[in-house]
Amino acid sequence: MKEKIEALRKEIEQLNYLYYVLSKPEVSDYEFDMKLKELERLEAEHPEFFDANSPTQRIGSDVNRTFTQVEHQYPMLSLANTYSAGEVQDFFERTRRALNEDFELVCELKYDGVSISLIYEDGILQQAITRGDGERGDDVTANVRTIKSIPLKLYGNDFPKQFEIRGEVLMPWKVFDELNHERAEQEEQLFANPRNAASGTLKLQNPAIVSQRSLDSYLYYLLGESLPADGHFENLAKAREWGFKISNAMCKCRTLQEVFNFIEYWDEERKNLPVATDGIVLKVNSSRQQLNLGWTAKSPRWAIAYKFKAEQAETRLNSVDFQVGRTGTVTPVANLEPTLLSGTTVKRASLHNADIINALDIHIGDMCFVEKGGEIIPKITGVNRKARFLPGEKVKFVENCPACGTKLQRSAGEATWFCPNHYRCKPQIKGRIEHFVSRKAMYINIGEETVNQFYNIGFVHNAADLYSVKPSDILCLERWGQKSVDNFIESINLSKSVSYERVIFALGIPEVGETIAKRLANTFHDIDSLMNATFEQLISVGDVGTVIAQSVLDFFAEKSNRKIVERLKSYGLQLSLDQAVLAERTDTLKGQIFVISGTFFKHSRDEYKAMIEKNGGKNTGSVSSKTDYILAGDNMGPAKLGKAKSLGIKIINEDDFLKIVDLSTADFKDDNLLF
Ligand code: IVH
Repeated sequence: MKEKIEALRKEIEQLNYLYYVLSKPEVSDYEFDMKLKELERLEAEHPEFFDANSPTQRIGSDVNRTFTQVEHQYPMLSLANTYSAGEVQDFFERTRRALNEDFELVCELKYDGVSISLIYEDGILQQAITRGDGERGDDVTANVRTIKSIPLKLYGNDFPKQFEIRGEVLMPWKVFDELNHERAEQEEQLFANPRNAASGTLKLQNPAIVSQRSLDSYLYYLLGESLPADGHFENLAKAREWGFKISNAMCKCRTLQEVFNFIEYWDEERKNLPVATDGIVLKVNSSRQQLNLGWTAKSPRWAIAYKFKAEQAETRLNSVDFQVGRTGTVTPVANLEPTLLSGTTVKRASLHNADIINALDIHIGDMCFVEKGGEIIPKITGVNRKARFLPGEKVKFVENCPACGTKLQRSAGEATWFCPNHYRCKPQIKGRIEHFVSRKAMYINIGEETVNQFYNIGFVHNAADLYSVKPSDILCLERWGQKSVDNFIESINLSKSVSYERVIFALGIPEVGETIAKRLANTFHDIDSLMNATFEQLISVGDVGTVIAQSVLDFFAEKSNRKIVERLKSYGLQLSLDQAVLAERTDTLKGQIFVISGTFFKHSRDEYKAMIEKNGGKNTGSVSSKTDYILAGDNMGPAKLGKAKSLGIKIINEDDFLKIVDLSTADFKDDNLLF
């Protein structure tokens, strides 16, 4: 049986390699899934043959902890950037003078992701570390193990016993677009670019979610004492044989002209790649010559990056829309003559805010420059004045709300204008209902279109109305059948068991996000005490400052909001803290203020935070004379430590803390988390 399991593991790893590294799948997804299922079954029947490197383990377990910091054996340096052909020529000539002998340059693509260092011993992935500050990074091994193009076990037997390989973890454009689409539907904040999305994903505490995000990798730098060859290019060719994903977009050059040809070709061709690139990297091929040239404090002298110019297009401004968001913020959006930019057609672009519109002095009909930078929405970066013949109307920021006509306001020191007519301005009302039903709030199974439909027909004017909609009324609407009506009613009923803290978040009180909602729920155990809280009571809640406190007061001062809350109560929503959760609370740490710092091993930071609050204590971010305890893990920052010592604050470690709250490590796991 052992042999059978091992053969199946090998076969599945091989299929993974063909699919994820070579992009040449040999079997259908179905066939692959069947093989994986079979292996899962056999492994479950024979736990004695467990192997942490089995392909079934790539899905990721549910461990939840803060990352441990690890020192890099070789510091992770960056590259000197260049932006012009002249600078590339300078590098080439500088290198020739310094070496005073023939040399080869390797041209590669500069992948725009998150740098990672992988350590292998005896062909097995031991550790994956992020760049961090270059000297020490986070140990993200559990997450990296879920990336299918990163081999857990190498092929062949000619790899060094111990070596490091560095590269980039990337989120392919397609995955990025899907993820953002999903986040937009759930009204979650979008990732600005695939790099941020990959970085956010690698830092997730749950490898099972990382696994679903389909990250990819390209590796480009081998380090170690006994590498196969002197040449970087030759070493990477070997690494490719061992199973690493090494780009084929590489070439060895001897002349400057060959380098320019590579740059010119890829500046265009990179638009067809599945992942983001932002330049070209030039490296001296020979390790001996690299050593000769050496390093500065920040980067090697034997390599440089040439950065591609941000892509820009010139197109006509047709009109400007002013959009009103859920909290009343008004954003200017330019409608453009459609133009092609970085592979997609751009029709709309951000015009930032009123100050920038004025500074641009932009007129309708102007030819303007659009750029796709790191942001989600392309932005207007300038106006081509020479192309302005018959100037159209100058663009002016609206003074009144484009939806309801109310005079806009602007808070002191803020760049954005908002409509203060929160309770009668249509896009704000609809936006609040959309927020209420969203996944992180009540998770009611309807989207923007249905909210619009219900609102326009007059069924729903606020969140509470959703609970009085009759199935027979919706059944006769366009696009609704019995099945979708049943689904809707079921999800309305399910939402009645959504926790109190999420109901507070769902109300859409401006400034009250998920974390603040949790803090409020934890201090005000039912909605009546929250609605009647005073300013002083509110600002005494952790993380609640004067702006949030005032916003909560304003929200509940509005009669219509109180009425909605009363109705939600009558429909049976959770508007007080669960009794079981309440029963577990203690006063052990009552009034004690904690600062958590460093890396922990027995529980995650969030778990410790929850324990503190559950036992009546308070968490704060920075050390001050008010701090009672520092809960210190490994590698606590020296500045914090010094300050805490000088203020005479008690510093305790995780064991001391667990003794104080009298919890064994076993009985406090993530599912007990209040937060
Ligand atoms: S070599 C000491 N090669 O760009 C040189 N880096 O700005 C090690 N990068 O830290 C890096 N593609 O995160 C190298 N083909 C490539 C690269 C690459 C992307 C990243 C890497 C590096 C950063 C420097």
